Amino acid sequence: MKFFVSTPLYYTNAPLHLGHAYTTIAADVVARYKRMRGYDVFFLTGTDEHGLKVEKAAVADGKKPKEFVDELVPEIKELWKKLEISYDHFVRTTDGYHERQVQGVLQKLYDQGDIYKGTYEGWYCLPCESFWTDLQLADGKCPDCGRGVQKSKEETYFFKMSKYRDKLLKLFDENKQFVQPEYRRSEVLNFFRDELKDLSISRATLKWGIPLPFDSSHVTYVWFDALFNYWTALAYDGDKKRQATFWPADVHLVGKEILRFHAVYWPAMLFAAGLPAPKTVYAHGWWTVEGQKMSKSRGNVVDPHDILDNYDADAFRYFLLREVPFGMDGDFSEKALIQRINNDLASEYGNLLNRTLVMIERYSNKAIPPAGPKGENEAALAAAAEKCVAFYSAKMDAYEFHHALEGIWEFVKEANKYVNDSEPWNLAKNNDARLNTVLACLAESLRLSTLLLAPFIPVKADEAWKQLGYSGKASEQKFADAKWGLFKPGTKTSRGNVLFEQIK
Ligand code: ME8
Ligand code: MG
Repeated sequence: MKFFVSTPLYYTNAPLHLGHAYTTIAADVVARYKRMRGYDVFFLTGTDEHGLKVEKAAVADGKKPKEFVDELVPEIKELWKKLEISYDHFVRTTDGYHERQVQGVLQKLYDQGDIYKGTYEGWYCLPCESFWTDLQLADGKCPDCGRGVQKSKEETYFFKMSKYRDKLLKLFDENKQFVQPEYRRSEVLNFFRDELKDLSISRATLKWGIPLPFDSSHVTYVWFDALFNYWTALAYDGDKKRQATFWPADVHLVGKEILRFHAVYWPAMLFAAGLPAPKTVYAHGWWTVEGQKMSKSRGNVVDPHDILDNYDADAFRYFLLREVPFGMDGDFSEKALIQRINNDLASEYGNLLNRTLVMIERYSNKAIPPAGPKGENEAALAAAAEKCVAFYSAKMDAYEFHHALEGIWEFVKEANKYVNDSEPWNLAKNNDARLNTVLACLAESLRLSTLLLAPFIPVKADEAWKQLGYSGKASEQKFADAKWGLFKPGTKTSRGNVLFEQIK
């Protein structure tokens, strides 16, 4: 069982911001969840380093493009480290294995007559690195981002994308999972249902790119270059077997503004190369600041390094995936982040852990006791646990992270209510045998919720796991263990620092 998940390759024209962190964290949650489910996972991220936008940024900084991008990449890897991103490979489009394979594909397409020389006349949007015709412009502006476009007339090579329109239609018809969420499908389909234009895939006016193998006075259009990474990166070490095993990709996670590139251009390019389309392209929404898309070129960004100076990385991960339904837009505010930390993480989950461990220390000599007699409340808690696990796996499989988390919190609330209802402090006073039952059920509730939370808050989940007395790491457990009743009585707990501090 294999699973291949990717993030977009981020442009190295400026440092990354919260929006990039978002997609990467989501992909990391998917990768960790699939590993927990027993899949052999390949999780790919990286950087998109060619093109006019990057070249301009380098020139503005007084540097050579390669020098410029080489300085940005370590900073990006550092950010992924801080955010606990467990990628299997980091691809740079300036990597030799990538450039060579892209050239190989270009030569193949040229040889089979899918690439021809012509003249491009139209408009170019620099922030999007995309071509537009007169008709496509919206009030003279880029129809995707609303910003100004530049006139462009130049000799170029075209990719016969039109030739693959029928195959694309068939793909959309046969694979209803191809574009997700479902509500974005028709907007993509509309883009090519009636007509699909050939794509300009080279530029003679630009130096910073992969030279065409059959005409070195042109460099490859940055999107044609970058999209192929998802295939070339699988053979980063020359191991072609990995391409055979892992292709087609199971899911490309992308922001909604680049869905068309991934759901139209990319499969057409793959078809030409004789390769199957990815199984799913999932487009999520935008983080906005005062209603405007957060973006490097707009300069209204939230720097994740600043957030991480003040807040815990796991809390940030949790917030991003809990606050906004995956697929929808959401406005970022620190106030909302603090509320999530205080309410969900500190008061509900963290406090359940802490109060449980305190009681196990006080009443059971720091060891999870075997359960005593059980009643209705225990049956209800066990049922809630089973419901939570089933709901979680359904929602995780559907990329509905916010729902998966909501489900865990419903269960955590049940467990907190169970403490209040069963009043263990009174059971202790009366030497009631049900005290052990309550402690055991609480420990078990925590084992389960911690396991399910591990993909979202890997470091804190490992910490909670340790405090509960379990060996190994929460983040390395298998989903098969997410079953009520598998806890081990006698496990020695070791309460430590509170997991999440309240923030004023
Ligand atoms: O488009 N909200 O790179 P890019 C949510 N190089 N996500 C956001 C976001 C926001 N405000 N801003 C950015 C490119 N993102 C191309 C991709 S793929 C072969 C080439 C995330 O640096 C989101 O995933 O502009 C978006 O699609 C991506 O960053 C764009 O990053
Ligand atoms: Mg962008």
